[in-house]
Amino acid sequence: MKFFLDSAHVSEIQAALDMWQIDGVTTNPRHVQVSGKPFLKVIQEIGALFKGTDKAVSVQTNPHNHNNAQAIVEEGRKLAELSPNFVIKMPCTEAGFKACYVLCQEGIRANLTLCFSVTQALQAMRMGAQFVSPFIGWKESNAEEVEHFISEIVEVKQNYGFQTEILVAAVRNGRQIAEAAIAGADVVTCGYDVYKAAFEHPYTDMGLTKFQEFWDMTPYDE
Ligand code: E4P
Repeated sequence: MKFFLDSAHVSEIQAALDMWQIDGVTTNPRHVQVSGKPFLKVIQEIGALFKGTDKAVSVQTNPHNHNNAQAIVEEGRKLAELSPNFVIKMPCTEAGFKACYVLCQEGIRANLTLCFSVTQALQAMRMGAQFVSPFIGWKESNAEEVEHFISEIVEVKQNYGFQTEILVAAVRNGRQIAEAAIAGADVVTCGYDVYKAAFEHPYTDMGLTKFQEFWDMTPYDE
């Protein structure tokens, strides 16, 4: 299973690459705004971090074009020229699906974002998306069940042999990472703090304290 970092913070991405060998990055307009840098500048800085690798960097098209397939296609073509690592992110809307199909025919990879139903995921797969991004955290916040959501998308993918990678997004904790993996998702994308907390456990720290005490009470050699 691949671990992507959900961020547009260059030093954070570099740290996650060094420490965790992350497999790619997802950005969105919020992450870009938080970076404090202009869109084109920050995505190119992120692209440079991955130069020479086959790791994917999802860059999101202008969300105001959600109902304009031609505008999404034109922006997607321009963005894809900036880096071979870029995967073009567009929404699960009628125009987004259409733009995905056109771009995929041209060999440009697409990530269908803001996916909240199995049927949206199925249409993304039919249109040839490289990734489809079901947002589990947002569904939970809306009091919707997510227990079967990912496993149903995985089942649909398997039923028809689609190649689209299921990228579980808006992941809030380590348990959700585990549940995505158990369901058979291909990728999770999480914030830096979510991974950091997920890789730790208080019992690991408590156990280390105990073992250190015994270690210190024991001679190392005769
Ligand atoms: C995924 O590609 C999105 O960028 C992301 O997971 C959005 O959700 P969040 O910002 O609420 O975590």
